[in-house]
Amino acid sequence: MTKGLNIVSPVGDKIDWDCQELKEKFPRSKQDIEGPIPKPQECLLLIDGKVVKSDQNPTEVHTPIITQDRPDEHISIGKFEMASEEQAMRALEAAERSYMYGRGTWAKMSIDQRCKHMEEFANDLEKKTEEIAQLLMWEICKNVKDAHDEVTRTVAYIHTAVKEARALAEGESRFHEQKGIMCQIRHLPVGVVLASSPFNYPLNEAYTTFIPALLMGNSVIVRAPRNGATPHFPTLELFARHFPPGTIQLLTGSGREVMGALVATGRIDAVAFIGTASSAKGLLKGASNPQRLRVMYEGEAKDAAIILPDADLGVAVDSCASGMTSFNGQRCTAIKMIWVHQSQAEEFLKRLAEKIDALKLGMPWDESVKITPLCEDSKPAYVKELIVDALNKGAHIVNNGGKCYKTLCTLSILAPVNKHMKIWTEEQFGPVTPVAVYTDVQEPIDYVSRSEYGLQSAVFGYSEELLGRVVDALSYHVGRININAPDQRGPDVFPFTGRGNSALGILNATEGLKFFSVPTMVAAKSEDERSVKALKALNDGPHCRVVYGAK
Ligand code: G3H
Repeated sequence: MTKGLNIVSPVGDKIDWDCQELKEKFPRSKQDIEGPIPKPQECLLLIDGKVVKSDQNPTEVHTPIITQDRPDEHISIGKFEMASEEQAMRALEAAERSYMYGRGTWAKMSIDQRCKHMEEFANDLEKKTEEIAQLLMWEICKNVKDAHDEVTRTVAYIHTAVKEARALAEGESRFHEQKGIMCQIRHLPVGVVLASSPFNYPLNEAYTTFIPALLMGNSVIVRAPRNGATPHFPTLELFARHFPPGTIQLLTGSGREVMGALVATGRIDAVAFIGTASSAKGLLKGASNPQRLRVMYEGEAKDAAIILPDADLGVAVDSCASGMTSFNGQRCTAIKMIWVHQSQAEEFLKRLAEKIDALKLGMPWDESVKITPLCEDSKPAYVKELIVDALNKGAHIVNNGGKCYKTLCTLSILAPVNKHMKIWTEEQFGPVTPVAVYTDVQEPIDYVSRSEYGLQSAVFGYSEELLGRVVDALSYHVGRININAPDQRGPDVFPFTGRGNSALGILNATEGLKFFSVPTMVAAKSEDERSVKALKALNDGPHCRVVYGAK
């Protein structure tokens, strides 16, 4: 019993990190596994238009899926190269050679020509959906549907970016006249762009940044994450086929070493980093030209859901459950804190617990499975640490949670949580969700306002007065407020951004095209007839590729 609330833990607040019931969810033996285990692959890098097999410093990739007969054995599904500083410098030199101060083949192409290359690449990428989805499923354990969705969403994103790039070029192909100045403005590339992605969207979130960068004529270096490197391997031959040498390089290995070495040269013009605030801080500290480094960043979050007194509990429970469990809570937009009004707390917790406990745990190839094994080796221990800490400070496990076997953990709901618990502020990024109970809506408003993060919030309820107050207050702290719906990045055409340690810059195709380019003017005085005539001649003739096509 908790003060004023009747909270009963169905598991008696006991945790079981050697849960035999969960052990049985794993295949009995390798022979029992459905579908082929991807074969150990070679370490691949892409440098200067060549797919390089490099085995200087290989690191084994193992799947988080174990077997009941050999639970301590890691099943290898490949390896990746811990790229050296020397390899990073070779990638940089290739990118610089290809860009060649804007005179390289790719940079010189019109946007329309680049779009054609990109469309052909996207069509070939689509043909590899199954192969890439299998690697995502085995390496990071996205369930089969989400693994396919990541590839499909990426292909769709490329087509959207192509459409937006064409619209940008079309919109720029006109002369402007203002206060005696006649000009044309073109978005031109910034130079060499460095992009990285996190393990939860290893493919998609790399592409959301480097595709707009490529379309604008930049040369790019991509660093694949340690968990999630192999899904990139089937794409390398496609890049080599569809883009001029040096336009894109792909490196694997330590972000600190590879990206750190590159940023320290002062020869990177823009960096798109998706990861933690502390790694971003470390990376940027080492930048030798921070004053001119363009930074796009997306970091951690602690998205809160606020259940108002008049919320429809059916809607709130369904939305919170999906926001908490999608990819086991390993999304920046996952709901990582729930605030429920005291008047609805008991009923909400009961219904949320029922909903979560009904979800199927198991192996990612089973289409009905929602909760899958965790791919970060240290995550189960961290989840346990958060639960134990909360239990010691007065929370209860209010569902059939608190269980784990090796990499597979149940989702645990903890309530009521308070500010003394680690889970109050730390981003769990995994299967455990805290619920706080409030009496005055100012409490969750203060929680969100004082947080160092500011990605999104979800608010459940219909009262105009309360909704208005919450929306107004939170709008200055997060990038998106979802009314009676869970948090999410999509649709990808909308601006995805945030505040504080959660984001800097906007992650979508339209804004990406602008971010990785400089609006450059070619201008003459309107009264200077000879110069205006010369400018127009550039536009009409074959000698200038920047000024062209103006009506
Ligand atoms: O992990 C962070 C992602 O940007 C979240 O994207 O809301 O589409 O899952 P999503």
